[in-house]
Amino acid sequence: MNKLTIRDIEVTGKRILVRVDFNVPLDYNTGEITDNGRIKATLPTIDYLIENGARVILCSHLGRPGGKVLNELSLAVVARRLSKILRQTVEITDDCIGPEVEEKVASLKNGDVLLLENLRFHDEEEKGDPSFARALARLGDIFVNDAFGTSHRSHASIVGITRYLLSVSGLLLEKEINALGSVLENPLHPFAVLLGGAKVSDKVGMLDNIMGKVDSIIIGGGMAATFLKAKSYDVGLSLLDDSVDTAADLIEKASNNGVRLVLPDDVLIAGKISNRAWVKNVSIEDIPRNKRIVDIGALTISNFTKELEKCRTVFWNGPMGIYEIARFSEGTRAMANIIANLNATTIIGGGSTSEIVTEMKLAEKMTFVSTGGGASLRFLSGETLPGIEVLLDKKAEIKPAGSL
Ligand code: 3PG
Repeated sequence: MNKLTIRDIEVTGKRILVRVDFNVPLDYNTGEITDNGRIKATLPTIDYLIENGARVILCSHLGRPGGKVLNELSLAVVARRLSKILRQTVEITDDCIGPEVEEKVASLKNGDVLLLENLRFHDEEEKGDPSFARALARLGDIFVNDAFGTSHRSHASIVGITRYLLSVSGLLLEKEINALGSVLENPLHPFAVLLGGAKVSDKVGMLDNIMGKVDSIIIGGGMAATFLKAKSYDVGLSLLDDSVDTAADLIEKASNNGVRLVLPDDVLIAGKISNRAWVKNVSIEDIPRNKRIVDIGALTISNFTKELEKCRTVFWNGPMGIYEIARFSEGTRAMANIIANLNATTIIGGGSTSEIVTEMKLAEKMTFVSTGGGASLRFLSGETLPGIEVLLDKKAEIKPAGSL
């Protein structure tokens, strides 16, 4: 990575404002965190800063409150969890900007950690508002971006703030860039991407970019229906996004580039989305008009397995079916188990895919589990993410950014 990191600068005694991605999944009933992977992933940065006597001010969004203060999206739950993990008190402020927050920050001692309340309680955050960015910048001497999962957003706490503070990368961001970058730059072959999830449109950029680099593209999940439709199969009531033409295009591109495009041969179909639904494993040639695809079928699991077992690099993003419903989760679970046991470099795209492997206790068996869902796809599309672009380059002369 060609960006300066916290290791390249003096942090002792400084107020280090760290943008993290603590947008963690919550249990709707209890409000508790169901997967703390994103919190744990930032520990290298937080520990480094504590050990080096910095005053650590963390800021993040949680959910999409749209500029309103919503108690259920308070980061207090994260402050409690982080306090337990760090074994030191992490206080949460009532707001993320303003005189009271500034006072709290001023009272921090070296090694203390403070968490600011949800940035998105202010709609200026998502608008990238310069005065909001300036108000945030008043809280730190140096800005650190460790929020890979949000670095595809041009928000005030990701991009705007870098106009006012010297801005460097955190250790998680560095790790993400290096891990995902290696997939693009020098993957070991054979290299396969396994894609699922609902929308083809989310993955087109990435598929276009990696077309010349992969040996096979394996497609399951909701998006398989769009590809099957593009190949003129009847997919019954399966949801199609508006990308049938795009899928047809990608099929042609894969063939022109000598890439094997592997689609399901059979699928699990159901009449309704419920654990009690009637289900049947059918060939893709026999999908009834009044049923929908809810998972990949048994033969497909075996075909995908054979394809994956040949590989030395695998990138996986997106479930193979409606995995939230236990009866429709077999394909996804099978892929997670197979990938975890491959003798290959295995990279898991963030979002629901990382939640699945964490819940199945397989995360440790993967080479790298990204904390970014949308961000990892955008990165693999070859785009420079706005939040990364604005950080200081390795060769940059270190001098404070614009004054407030
Ligand atoms: C994510 O969960 O992908 C990131 O935290 C970004 O969240 P957003 O899609 O609400 O911007």
